[in-house]
Amino acid sequence: MSHQLLKGKKGIISGALDERSIAWKTALACVAEGAEIVLTNAPIAMRMGKINELAKLCNCPVIPADATNIADIENLMQKSMEHFGGKMDFILHSIGMSPNVRKSIAYTNTNYENFLKTLDISALSFHRFLQTAMKLDAINEWGSVVALSYIAAQRTFPGYNDMADAKAVMESIARSFGYSYGFAKKVRVNTISQSPTVTTAGSGVSGFDVFLHYADITSPLGNASAEDCANYCVMLFSDYTRMVTMQNLFHDGGFSNTGVSHLIVEEIMAGNKVEE
Ligand SMILES: NC(=O)c1ccc[n+]([C@@H]2O[C@H](COP(=O)([O-])OP(=O)(O)OC[C@H]3O[C@@H](n4cnc5c(N)ncnc54)[C@H](O)[C@@H]3O)[C@@H](O)[C@H]2O)c1
Repeated sequence: MSHQLLKGKKGIISGALDERSIAWKTALACVAEGAEIVLTNAPIAMRMGKINELAKLCNCPVIPADATNIADIENLMQKSMEHFGGKMDFILHSIGMSPNVRKSIAYTNTNYENFLKTLDISALSFHRFLQTAMKLDAINEWGSVVALSYIAAQRTFPGYNDMADAKAVMESIARSFGYSYGFAKKVRVNTISQSPTVTTAGSGVSGFDVFLHYADITSPLGNASAEDCANYCVMLFSDYTRMVTMQNLFHDGGFSNTGVSHLIVEEIMAGNKVEE
């Protein structure tokens, strides 16, 4: 179902680890819509993941970059511009990792070194992408930068741990940087708050299966899939959303505006109660 919405556009897609990654689906969707892309991921993910398979499918280069390393990000932007023969039009930030989540360290007993790493990898990296792009003047006017967020930035979800704080910072960066980048270069900056999705990062969160099911039966449209999210990214990179910036956009089948659904009530009435 291609409409060539991104014909002639060029962009960087970060965070494709394997075929479940939201970035993987987004890369394929962008190319199907006519875009030229560069893929990037952390050097370690290049060895562990399957990004080179995706690069073949997308007929594009892979430029490794650790999102916590400014020199890597500069190199990524510069090499991408060399590859494209000029500036780009969009960037997807699809990067998240919490050592506290990974090591099952409770939020109330946090390890602050880990906490700082969570913020650095999952939130400040977004600022790093934006600041480097602006310094190098790497994005065309009316370009679009998107990062992926989660509703734990607004509401508490046990198990999401310090990633909730990282997402709150990231969404704030979209507003603050979006303001400056909009005035300076007419570049727009948004976050998409996506439904829980089965991926490597998603499945690392404790109790993930339960809250995936809970979100699915709370949302009138059900959970948004990674493919749906990829299509939403395409729209945000396209000229059809030229005037959208500094927003956190819920892409969650209606979850964020639902209190309780009749399906949740029916499950509880049926005695399928979660023990307190
Ligand atoms: N899966 C979900 O339920 C869900 C829901 C809402 C938002 N998100 C967000 O979507 C984004 C993509 O995650 P995903 O679910 O596709 O999982 P994923 O595990 O496939 O992607 C996360 C990516 O982050 C990369 N990464 C980690 N540390 C890095 C570093 N230092 N430098 C560069 N890259 C690094 C990983 O290599 C990986 O490719 C994340 O920001 C995540 O928080 C996920």
